Amino acid sequence: MRIFSGVRPTGDVHIGNYLGAIKQWVKLQEKNECIFCIVDLHAITTPYKKEQLQKNILETTVTYLAAGLNPEKSIIFVQSQIKEHSELAWLLGTIIPVGELQRMTQFKEKTKKHPKYVNAGLLNYPVLMAADILLYQTQLVPVGKDQQQHVELTRTIARRFNQQFGKTFKLPQTLLSKTGAKIMSLQNPTKKMSKTGNPRGCIGLFDKPGIIKSKVMAAVTDTGKEIVYNPQKKPGISNLLTIYSLFSEKPIKQLETEFKDQDYVDFKESLVKVLIKSLEPLRQKRKELLDREVYVNEILNQGKRKAEIIAQSTIKEVKKNMGLL
Ligand code: TYM
Repeated sequence: MRIFSGVRPTGDVHIGNYLGAIKQWVKLQEKNECIFCIVDLHAITTPYKKEQLQKNILETTVTYLAAGLNPEKSIIFVQSQIKEHSELAWLLGTIIPVGELQRMTQFKEKTKKHPKYVNAGLLNYPVLMAADILLYQTQLVPVGKDQQQHVELTRTIARRFNQQFGKTFKLPQTLLSKTGAKIMSLQNPTKKMSKTGNPRGCIGLFDKPGIIKSKVMAAVTDTGKEIVYNPQKKPGISNLLTIYSLFSEKPIKQLETEFKDQDYVDFKESLVKVLIKSLEPLRQKRKELLDREVYVNEILNQGKRKAEIIAQSTIKEVKKNMGLL
């Protein structure tokens, strides 16, 4: 299967990004043809600091590698380095009605969050994402739940294009993680964990042990004291159980039995240990990689060269089918 996915380089990657997306990628690269992108053109649709962007791109690449992506197996590259992404986004933009873009949940959310920054790029965000995916004739897109609507729109665009101009694109499918597709904020377990939400509700992939401990111990829990999974009645503890289960690779049912006679504090203390133990190797790897900037840049150059070949061949076909030279 051909697989494509990406993360916006907008700041520190959190455990939601990891459990919802990156952890899947690491497994998928063993048996599939994987392409993972650092989507910097998407990152500039919301307010950002120019001086910080290059650093964030490098940091996101290092995160991919520290989490276990292998450049021998996967193509890793930066979106803005392959101009065909922008070119295809323009072409696809001509077949999608504006109304459909205005209805996208993330567009509405981001418009609310940054009312003074509602640029055309933000509206066209899903079209660029469709271009990312379709440019590589992707079959599977492993993402968190919040991106599902964008992948569905990508399918609609591909179907419409194929009908109008002849079969050009493969129709991609969303691949959601079974339990980690929507990790919630530790401070408000009815809202998803996000880079821009309450920082205390969000555990960074490279947070120091002391920080992890203070965030987990302060996590909002629910009334009662049983450690049981029930997202409607007990959203706080259910979210912590999900995180525990994904990091320890133990089923939630088993955890419920293990913690049957214990209280929230015991459970949280144990979760802190699991998190620190699981994340420590990633923190070490990141530290080593941050000192090897030349090596990391070489991976991106190599990725660019490989991705470009596929991207150029698709765009040629697209332009021909659309009647362009
Ligand atoms: P981004 O950078 O917001 O998030 C990266 C990935 O992390 C997932 N994610 C979560 N999963 C579970 N729980 C959470 N709380 C959580 N928060 C984020 C996201 O679903 C995503 O998979 N538009 C995309 C980037 C993108 C892309 C693409 C993805 C651009 N082009 C093409 C796939 C294919 C985004 O902003 O992700």
